Amino acid sequence: MEYRSLGRSGLKISRMTLGTNNFGRDVDEATSIRVVRKAIDLGINSIDSANVYTQGKSEEIIGKAVRGDRDRFVIATKLGHEVGEGPNDSGLSRKHIHWQLSVSLRRLQTDHIDIYYMHRFDPVTPLEETLKTFDELIREGKVLYLACSNFTVENMRAMNEVCERLGLERIVALQPPYNLLNREAEAELFPYCLENGLGAITYSALAGGFLTGKYSEGVPAPAGTRGALYPRFWGRMNKPENYAIVEKFKALADTAGMPLSLLALNWIAKNPAVTSMITGASRPEQVEENVRELEVKPPEEVMAKLDALAKGTTA
Ligand SMILES: NC(=O)c1ccc[n+]([C@@H]2O[C@H](COP(=O)([O-])OP(=O)(O)OC[C@H]3O[C@@H](n4cnc5c(N)ncnc54)[C@H](OP(=O)(O)O)[C@@H]3O)[C@@H](O)[C@H]2O)c1
Repeated sequence: MEYRSLGRSGLKISRMTLGTNNFGRDVDEATSIRVVRKAIDLGINSIDSANVYTQGKSEEIIGKAVRGDRDRFVIATKLGHEVGEGPNDSGLSRKHIHWQLSVSLRRLQTDHIDIYYMHRFDPVTPLEETLKTFDELIREGKVLYLACSNFTVENMRAMNEVCERLGLERIVALQPPYNLLNREAEAELFPYCLENGLGAITYSALAGGFLTGKYSEGVPAPAGTRGALYPRFWGRMNKPENYAIVEKFKALADTAGMPLSLLALNWIAKNPAVTSMITGASRPEQVEENVRELEVKPPEEVMAKLDALAKGTTA
């Protein structure tokens, strides 16, 4: 496993990060723990969660899975989405941050979060309030690094300006979606990250499994897969235009004698802006396969053809 510095910070993270939003949902606790242990055994040191994943169950399971050797891991979690219906049950106010940090620390059975993400931009709370609060938490050692997810360049610029003006700890990384079917991050986000020394930890490397080639047009999603279990995911992906492009990717992969998922993961790894790609797994064998595939380097001409095919995709 290769490790990279996260932006201009000193933190080293594995090129693959384990995603955990399915823990305690379609993946039961015992299997989720085996998925984490398999990831660790294969050199993955970076684990991504959020306070809202399965109403906190994901954080609880990670806490159990890393008990005993927690310091070897870079544990990331997020806050900002609704955890209830009350007026202070979401956002990035001082109150919500303090509350949700204490909840996440308890669930994760730890005294600090390695990377703490703002899950989405909060247009209401003054940036100064949010950033001063995180700065204090970093000084107290409860949070080591601050990051953001699903932010625009304007959001990051506004935050950086406040941090610079007030001498506060800055954001070290962005978490956007990025895969062969969604290249939106290339337009503005990646250039901004590279210019400003931010890392990028990208999510949905396999488009939720769609880029493994397990789904075919007109055929019901195989039992037990995300396509079969989650109508919202299926509604988003089960579209003629997605099959049309994935069929082209598959044909190229077949000609190269390599699985499509191998090409999809390596295509992400080739982007210089990407520090680490997040992949989810519903079984330990999937983590094993994904790590193994990332280690195989496909021929340059195959990757160039794949890149050309993927131009203009925005699913
Ligand atoms: N910041 C955000 O707003 C945000 C949003 C979304 C996700 N995320 C993060 O990113 C993580 C990953 O997202 P994602 O789940 O969409 O990622 P993904 O890696 O694109 O999809 C993961 C799913 O693909 C299937 N899969 C993975 N490896 C496979 C293999 N080798 N063979 C066959 N199927 C395989 C599994 O589903 P099945 O077995 O069920 O088919 C697995 O659950 C999340 O857990 C979360 O941590 C963040």
